[in-house]
Amino acid sequence: MKIVVLCGGVSSEREISLRSSTKVATALKSRGHQVLMVDVFFGTDREMSFEEDQDFARTADELRTKNHLITPERIRETGLFGPGVLDLCRKADVVFIGLHGENGEDGKVQSAFEAEKIPYTGSDPAGSAIAMSKEETKKIVAPHILMPDGIILRRGEPLPDPIRIKVPFILKPSNGGSSVGVMIIRDEKDFEGALEQCFQYDDTILMEEFIEGRELTQGVLDGKALPPVEICPDEGAWYDYTNKYSGKTREVCPAPIDPEALARMSEISVRFGELVGLSVYYRIDYLLTKDGRLYALEANSLPGMTDTSLVPQEAAAVGISYPELCEKIIDISLRK
Ligand SMILES: Nc1ncnc2c1ncn2[C@@H]1O[C@H](COP(=O)(O)OP(=O)(O)O)[C@@H](O)[C@H]1O
Ligand SMILES: [Mg+2]
Repeated sequence: MKIVVLCGGVSSEREISLRSSTKVATALKSRGHQVLMVDVFFGTDREMSFEEDQDFARTADELRTKNHLITPERIRETGLFGPGVLDLCRKADVVFIGLHGENGEDGKVQSAFEAEKIPYTGSDPAGSAIAMSKEETKKIVAPHILMPDGIILRRGEPLPDPIRIKVPFILKPSNGGSSVGVMIIRDEKDFEGALEQCFQYDDTILMEEFIEGRELTQGVLDGKALPPVEICPDEGAWYDYTNKYSGKTREVCPAPIDPEALARMSEISVRFGELVGLSVYYRIDYLLTKDGRLYALEANSLPGMTDTSLVPQEAAAVGISYPELCEKIIDISLRK
């Protein structure tokens, strides 16, 4: 097949996208496909051919050197697709969406592909857009699935009085990802400063009760839940967010949880996706408390796809190799 792996973009998760896309492109090529990798934002200023032998790692490195060229002016000028991107995508049998973060997860790229009848991987525009917004997700999911109690705070609007969420609590941007801007507040006096900081990421903030629990995440592939991963902070780093997100974590797959919790989680993951309207592949994040309550946090419509990312680890646990997973994602998407 002729495959375009669409990467990069302007979201805060650009780097994860470049890493994932390099691996996806390499894996698909190893399976005999004709693969081109192109940055959705920078596009291409030359005629690209599916016959050519592109060095994906080098392409990614070249794209990194352009990071400083992503400016608000250029974003306004370029719009959704950089030069040559749509032309190239039209020539492909399928576009593998290797994007992460707002640019890609918000559903706009998918919308354009629907309009152009260009086949692409993953969820449709509506499901992607809902999953991107933690506010919308919660509105739709919380009546059916246990989620942390939370309220919405908007920039420029007065805070509710009284606020029913008490310390400790979490502040997180509604449209964030990869824990960027997530803050834990343990003392009321830190609230105002933290709120101001959080509003730098988004105009809409989710304020949630803090749930103390084990951190788990579960992928769903083709409507079936995969074995979950447990993300364990290293010794002594329990809930220290600096450590937790500086890579000092261990990932255990399959997560050592009892069969009852596993069955419950698997059912919830599939149901969560149905409610939001996700398909093909996605990942749900959880917290599991000591007394067995399972809180769903959010859905990721374009989960990380490097060969050591969470969903690829989960697929490996059921015998699906990384290149196989990449191909399956394409096959399932084309079947839709
Ligand atoms: N209500 C909560 N209680 C405790 N920890 C939370 C809560 N919400 C988020 N977190 C922590 O912050 C991380 C990121 O939150 P999440 O909702 O998954 O957003 P994202 O991954 O998009 O940044 C979670 O993995 C968890 O460690
Ligand atoms: Mg998350």
